[in-house]
Amino acid sequence: MKTPVLLMDRTRILQNYQDIEKALPDFKIAYAVKSNNHPEIVNILKRSGSLFEVASLYEIENLLSMGIEPENIIYSNPVKPPDDIKSAAEKKVCVMSFDSVTELEKILPYKDNVKLLFRIEVPNEGSLWPLSGKFGCPSKLWDKIYSYMQKHSIKLSGITYHVGSQCENLPNFKSALLETKKAYQLAKSYGLDPYILNIGGGFPVYLGREIPPIKQIAEIILETIEDLKKDGVVFTEFYAEPGRFISGSAGTLLSKVIGIAERENNKWVFLDTGVFSGMMETVDGITYPLLSTGSGKSENVMLCGPTCDSMDKMFKAMIPNPKVGDNIYFSGAGAYTTVYASDFNGFSRPDITFLDSVDEQLPQEADLENHSEIAS
Ligand SMILES: Cc1ncc(COP(=O)(O)O)c(C=O)c1O
Repeated sequence: MKTPVLLMDRTRILQNYQDIEKALPDFKIAYAVKSNNHPEIVNILKRSGSLFEVASLYEIENLLSMGIEPENIIYSNPVKPPDDIKSAAEKKVCVMSFDSVTELEKILPYKDNVKLLFRIEVPNEGSLWPLSGKFGCPSKLWDKIYSYMQKHSIKLSGITYHVGSQCENLPNFKSALLETKKAYQLAKSYGLDPYILNIGGGFPVYLGREIPPIKQIAEIILETIEDLKKDGVVFTEFYAEPGRFISGSAGTLLSKVIGIAERENNKWVFLDTGVFSGMMETVDGITYPLLSTGSGKSENVMLCGPTCDSMDKMFKAMIPNPKVGDNIYFSGAGAYTTVYASDFNGFSRPDITFLDSVDEQLPQEADLENHSEIAS
């Protein structure tokens, strides 16, 4: 098989969607297209009744061209180019988020055609890919936002947040709702009437460490929503926007060893995939469980990509005696990999191949002397 290639498991995509749908029964599930925008994923999810979360007009146009209805698209990027807000509203994509007064100023001309979700800042501790800081309005600015809405008669349809991608810290899912309660109560005091709760994404996949299962995450969310109701914080429409949870665990990136070099204190193993061809998230500490077709004693090596850039290094891992030509499989790599890839230095982006089951393609445990482990 030509490498690098991302092997996507159709059955797993559907299963992941069904798992989260079952765990959060009153929620509409909107797949975050940015995690992996391949049309085959969109089609599987469309057939299952999924909604879609988008970041850009490009993603909106793609979905519309695939027959997705505009009311099934949520435009959750809180900062949008002004012309794209106009185009989205004209195309009847009307649920959109904002987290600043400047965004409200841009949306003002379309205020009667859109449903606005206020993105608030919530704790992102323990999330491997935090989003707070750049996104989400801090609580000290909520009065300013609500005053502006009140003054310009802008309706507030709902509240949204993101606990950070790959959130391995269960309490974040509750803290975010406690922040929401404060934002809701303050909104009411301004005469605003939010009724939509959009809990964003962040649901984790197995990347080599223990993660809370979706059932446990859903339980804490549902329990907290019940508690909020007792305090008069009542939402009637619910959305979740999983990206990684649906596409991540469904993908395995197959790569080949193309070179090995001895360096001071370390062996460097060069692969035909790297930071610029799929493994972008490794720059900020994300690692993937590995399988290798190599055999022999495991060694602690630095994995790096093929380009002539020194930042094209991934992470340290234990690999059974690596040799040129060995296959290395990165599991949990279906999200935020191929969508980030470029052809920097002329190395090709990974192809994507869809299979009914990827597991059958993987080397069986018995064929391997060693499963590789992430090294510290
Ligand atoms: C607004 C919004 N919703 C959903 C997601 C999907 O997050 P995840 O892949 O962690 O589920 C993202 C990711 O950046 C996002 O920005």
